[in-house]
Amino acid sequence: MIDLISLREQIERINADLKQGIDRLTDRSALEAFRIEFLGRKGRIGQLFRLLGQIDAAEKAEAGKLLNDLKTSANVAFEERRSVLENTILQSKIEEEKIDLTLPGVYHPLGHRHLLTQVQQEIESIFLRMGFDVATGPEIESEYHNFEALNIPADHPARDDWDTFYIDETTLLRPHTSPVQIRVMEKTEPPVRIICPGRCYRRDTQDATHSPVFHQVELLWVEEGLSLANLKYIIELFVHEFFGEGYEMRLSGDFFPFTEPSVQMHMRADRSSNWLELGGAGMVDPAVLTKVGYDPEKVTGFAFGLGIDRMAMLRYGIDDIRTFFTNDLRFITQF
Ligand code: FA5
Repeated sequence: MIDLISLREQIERINADLKQGIDRLTDRSALEAFRIEFLGRKGRIGQLFRLLGQIDAAEKAEAGKLLNDLKTSANVAFEERRSVLENTILQSKIEEEKIDLTLPGVYHPLGHRHLLTQVQQEIESIFLRMGFDVATGPEIESEYHNFEALNIPADHPARDDWDTFYIDETTLLRPHTSPVQIRVMEKTEPPVRIICPGRCYRRDTQDATHSPVFHQVELLWVEEGLSLANLKYIIELFVHEFFGEGYEMRLSGDFFPFTEPSVQMHMRADRSSNWLELGGAGMVDPAVLTKVGYDPEKVTGFAFGLGIDRMAMLRYGIDDIRTFFTNDLRFITQF
């Protein structure tokens, strides 16, 4: 049996121990251990509750109230200590991670699209407005699409111009965007109206107008009743849209195995400057149309392949193609 007096004594002892110990705790795990010692299932307060059964019936209500008060005040004490502790931990973390607002910031300049990308996108938007689609093809191209299908058999001398970097016996880095014509026609029925901008590779010696990596935009239009006059009109329309007034353009005879007749296109900024070759063009050779399963008696087509880098040079007065690829910020940030 236990009486109310000794219960009160025990409660006081617990209160005293609690008060004395709790303020010394400085980390979360010590606080939790201390809480379990008092308020855990087998803790000191719990053990007192278990004595309730031994208390005289007349004193039981009083004893119960005392124990409940003890439990409540212990819970409050732990919560208060916990919040003080969390605050201290937070404060010291803030101290540690203090930001010095007086330090100069780190400057991250915003990048922008390279001039060649800007020019390519502008060319795309001009032709999209005219009703052409934009097609793409692989830069690692098969010999078949790059040569055979374009009417350039293995022993044809024109191969020399475009024999470039071979990956293996039958694949190479494409030297022009013309193979995309074949890829598109192989899977599309006429009418076909596409442009294809992209990167090309050649083993040309570098100079002011030649780079081993450069860009072309191919155009192909196949439909019934097209003629060289339509080709000339499209080229002139594009030149007018892209270059504006003042530039001069000339077309002259040329030869490409995949077009007949073929022309080459030159431009200059004004009468006093030199002509710059921009590309080749022509009526798609009937042999090419036949190879992709089109009927050359029914449809005709024309195509061109123009150098994007050279167009950019002409429009922006850049006299050396190599400046596009040397990544000199003094050049790049001008555009
Ligand atoms: C061709 O590549 C033909 N495929 C063009 C064509 C397409 C003709 C469709 C007919 C029908 P060519 O080799 O001339 O043609 O190259 C065309 C243009 O690509 C050149 O005029 C030039 O503007 C550009 N080009 C060629 N090689 C280089 C190079 N190494 N560096 C920069 N631009 C180049």
